[in-house]
Amino acid sequence: MKKILVTGGLGYIGAHTVVELVNHGYEPVIVDDLSNTSLNVLDGIQAITGQAITFYQNDVRDLNAITKILRDNQIEAVIHFAAFKAVGESVQQPLKYYDNNIGGLVNLLKAMQTTQVKNIVFSSSCTVYGEPDVSPVNESSPIKKANSPYGNTKQIGEEILADCQFLNTVALRYFNPIGAHKSALIGELPLGVPNNLVPYITQTAAGIREKLTVFGQDYNTKDGTCVRDYIHVTDLAIAHVKSLDYIKNHPDNKFEVYNIGTGNGMTVLEILQAFEQVNDLKLNYSIGPRRAGDVEKVWADASKAKNILGWTAQLDLNEMVRSAWAWQQNLPKNAI
Ligand code: UD1
Repeated sequence: MKKILVTGGLGYIGAHTVVELVNHGYEPVIVDDLSNTSLNVLDGIQAITGQAITFYQNDVRDLNAITKILRDNQIEAVIHFAAFKAVGESVQQPLKYYDNNIGGLVNLLKAMQTTQVKNIVFSSSCTVYGEPDVSPVNESSPIKKANSPYGNTKQIGEEILADCQFLNTVALRYFNPIGAHKSALIGELPLGVPNNLVPYITQTAAGIREKLTVFGQDYNTKDGTCVRDYIHVTDLAIAHVKSLDYIKNHPDNKFEVYNIGTGNGMTVLEILQAFEQVNDLKLNYSIGPRRAGDVEKVWADASKAKNILGWTAQLDLNEMVRSAWAWQQNLPKNAI
């Protein structure tokens, strides 16, 4: 099993995963509709790996195109990243999310069934746990009612995959990926005003945004700000490689989920302080009101991934914030 279709392979997590696939002897083929990224990312991937990567500009909802790509490339497994992920936008435009995230998944699975490709790694999210009663959460922790259409698409996506018994599925529940490749040639590239914390921090440090607002300091946490499990995107990328290795060695697997986090909960202020300290700069920020829909605290018990996939996070918070800033500083050369 070598030839891997990576949908959304020019997105933030997808691009880092393509690099690690090449590093570990897999042959990735990318399909991406460029709706939330740019072709420059392909240049970055090719510069890092020193290889030409096959790329198709297609939407995963195009059944004929995806079926042909699977067949023509003799694909043996799929990593499915292609989806929308902005929580607030999903509340405003729910059908956009159901159409792309659910419609795209169903379409991809139809194409896989037709071409008899049964192996898939799916991008899920810790959002499926909602506001957990206790952290760390493990894979048996209750799935709470989703607090956004986006979160619901991840819950439904897992259920669809579990129902498809012809598949060998690993679903990865990501915690909060941050940071960038150590080369600073690929990283997170939000279009417009960032929703997520670290791109907002780096854009503020770069002077693109005037000031960062910390969303609430009245939570029941050690410094009053929300707690998340931040994980380096390269570690997350490697979790996909380990998942493929597992699928290859367990052809009878049907459906398994794994938490992918470090197991450490960090507050927003701890992230800001680490960013300032490691990069030796001062951030302009102030405390503002809570953001609607935010979970107070969630972090991972990632022992299942360690015990079964043989995966643990290797890169620490310093490397996460160092690489995020290095990427931001490299951006004028690479910007869209
Ligand atoms: C969110 C989603 C998650 C999704 C992920 C990817 C929720 C509850 N979770 O994660 O399901 O997979 O985005 O898009 O919406 N913060 C600030 N100031 C900012 C930005 C963020 O203080 O300008 C804080 C937030 O309140 C939060 C933390 O930083 O406490 C992380 O926020 P963010 O990066 O947006 O990720 P999540 O909300 O955890």
